[in-house]
Amino acid sequence: MTTHEPVTTERHALETTAIQHLWPHSNDIEWDEFTDRGLRVFVSGDGSTLTDAQGRTYIDGLAGLFLVNVGHGRTEIAEAMAEQARRIAYTSASVSTNPAAIRLAETVASLTPGDLNRIFFCSGGSEAVETALKIAKQVQALRGFPKRYKIIGRRGSYHGTTFGAMSLTASASERYFGPFMAGVSRVPSPNHYRNDFGLEGEAGDLMCARYVEQEILAQGPEHVAAVIGEPISAANGTHLPSPVYWQELRRICDRHGVLLIMDEVITGYGRTGKMFAAEHYGIVPDLMTMAKGLSSGYAPIGAVAVRDEVFEPFKEHGNAINHLLTFGGHAVAAAAASKNIEILQREDLVARSAEMGDYLMELAEGLRSHPTVGDIRGGLGLLTAIDLVKSKDSKEAWGTSHPFIKGLALRTQERGLITRVWDVLHIAPPLVLTRSEAEQIIDIVDTCLTEAEAAHASEIQ
Ligand SMILES: Cc1ncc(COP(=O)(O)O)c(C=O)c1O
Repeated sequence: MTTHEPVTTERHALETTAIQHLWPHSNDIEWDEFTDRGLRVFVSGDGSTLTDAQGRTYIDGLAGLFLVNVGHGRTEIAEAMAEQARRIAYTSASVSTNPAAIRLAETVASLTPGDLNRIFFCSGGSEAVETALKIAKQVQALRGFPKRYKIIGRRGSYHGTTFGAMSLTASASERYFGPFMAGVSRVPSPNHYRNDFGLEGEAGDLMCARYVEQEILAQGPEHVAAVIGEPISAANGTHLPSPVYWQELRRICDRHGVLLIMDEVITGYGRTGKMFAAEHYGIVPDLMTMAKGLSSGYAPIGAVAVRDEVFEPFKEHGNAINHLLTFGGHAVAAAAASKNIEILQREDLVARSAEMGDYLMELAEGLRSHPTVGDIRGGLGLLTAIDLVKSKDSKEAWGTSHPFIKGLALRTQERGLITRVWDVLHIAPPLVLTRSEAEQIIDIVDTCLTEAEAAHASEIQ
């Protein structure tokens, strides 16, 4: 059981040193929040649980950051990495390669839908997106369309924090980092709860897809290289588009010679109850980005898988891709990813994700009676979102820095659940989650919501 005493005020030596020297990455947490609350220092993990330096245990309700799909503490992966490191850890990604990267490329090509047969390795999701952007722009030029450089992204989406990826990311900070990459425009995203067009269900999704066509026409198809989107955008609140959305997008892109990039960095490798979320929609993108679940976080690795016809022009003399990443196809990372995929398959964790996702959703439905729970989305694997509102009628969100939200985040941690609480509370645990852990997660969320609602009763309408 993972119930907790309130966070102790006494810091562990590691926490003190972290505060002195480490620069934690953040896209919502301010420095004083790290120092006031203490930065969690996790020293070990097992399955879906984590232990911190103070000896407290937690359920990892976010699988790290939507990625530890096979769960923590897999010694098999550690051993595969050690064995590879002992043989050879590194070979240059440009003039050579290694057996681990070759084997992994073959496996990824066999798992991805359709003819996504050519695999470019990198170190994470942002690099995968940067790589996909460059491939898309170059292949358009090689096909005789050098002016096709524009990229259409979606409002609310997240694609990473390096420059090109950040330029497509809705929450990029204009204040510090603008101007961004030229030629990016953003279109509405599928959303059955707060649809931009006031439409419901499939009709709203279809309008979002058709808006993409309007945008392509407005930009001029002769200028558009690609459209990019996550199959299901966790960053945008885990709205599940109807299959017609992606099928229509596929047709629109084909009609206008625009490449379709699916960003499967979160959704890939079983998160949604299929190996890739594209399978729910019955389409094959031209390029697919992946990272996170590719190694379940045991090593930093990402990849872009491209269709045969996208790679074809790069075979011509003079057309080499002008893109080299020192750590691309790293042998130890590749060995970790191969072992991770072997475990996913051997333990049938993709099917388990579907089954446990249904169970989690069934339990989460019980939270609807809370006055602050506006919507609950999920049911495609272990990717569940609880939409938090001030008023069920107006669907007004609290805002991520509101004390209700910040307090709820703290409460869940103090009760032993690691999750992310923004406008939605995300639940995306390792795919090895047990039924009793799923029950504990929902119990903790239930209790914390009740407490937070009591503390903010006068603001709830
Ligand atoms: C859909 C998507 N794309 C890209 C990224 C960037 O990945 P990374 O943080 O590994 O650079 C993320 C990260 O969360 C993501 O969710």
